Amino acid sequence: MSKGIGYGKIILFGEHFVIYGLPAIAASIDLKTDVDLIFDPSLTDIKLSGVFNNEKAKEITNAILNNLGIKERSLFFNVKTNIPVASGLGSSAALSVAIARAINNTFMLGLSDKDICKASYEGEKVAHGNPSGVDNTVATYRGIILFERGERFEDNKIDPITIDYSIDIIIGNTGIKGNTKEVVMSVKKWLDDNPERAKSIFDEVKEIVLEAKESLKNKNLIKLGSLMNKNHSLLKEVGASCKELELLCETALEAGALGAKLVGSGGGGCMIALPKDKKNANEIVECFKELGFEAIITKIGGNVEISSSN
Ligand code: MEV
Repeated sequence: MSKGIGYGKIILFGEHFVIYGLPAIAASIDLKTDVDLIFDPSLTDIKLSGVFNNEKAKEITNAILNNLGIKERSLFFNVKTNIPVASGLGSSAALSVAIARAINNTFMLGLSDKDICKASYEGEKVAHGNPSGVDNTVATYRGIILFERGERFEDNKIDPITIDYSIDIIIGNTGIKGNTKEVVMSVKKWLDDNPERAKSIFDEVKEIVLEAKESLKNKNLIKLGSLMNKNHSLLKEVGASCKELELLCETALEAGALGAKLVGSGGGGCMIALPKDKKNANEIVECFKELGFEAIITKIGGNVEISSSN
């Protein structure tokens, strides 16, 4: 039996627009997916456990096995996760990375993180159609990264943003399952229908992301919060929000958050809020719970090294 782990993520800035080559900032969180890979000669095909015992998860796994050149199919993938699915927290990317790492460890392939990232991208393609690659990249490398999609996977730019402090982030969950593929397509339609505005939004997003990188480096959380608000209003404009996400963002801001935005594809799923301090974080969580929404406090920060280790 060999194990593999993949981490969940939040996109701090730039989701959706990252698909079209704009930069985005993403951070890994402490929610994760664990996979135990067990060789079972009684199986004639691969099998995944529990909620992952479905055709989509099998297809994702087969894409990763094929990418890694593994023909063996008498394999049982025992999957455990605490990442809510279809919630904007990168559950499918975490699954793909955990599967790729478990295969690597089982078959002693000696893969680098770059290979894991590439194999898990194949899984993401099955899950979402035309993913930017940001989710599987941060699920592989962890920490905070600035990601820019290139023409080909090999051309993607990954810059670690190293900060020597950690930031508390509240994740509020609308409880509505988002469908990444559908929301990505409807945002694309909005952008295609509004080419002039799309162009200026792209310019604004680029500026937001670059200013956010500086704000993170300078520990300017007030600025970071206002950039989150700006980013959210653009995501709302292109149709990625919904009334529950709006309610959660407004509630967080009224309770004193420095910033709030939807996270991931939107259309449901989760939002994130940047609290003023610890006390404020607890107050915001309480407000969410009073409204009947689930909320957790997570931490981001720490270092990423883009290395060849696995
Ligand atoms: C989903 O977590 C992020 C999106 O930008 C899709 C992608 O980057 O592939 C909405």
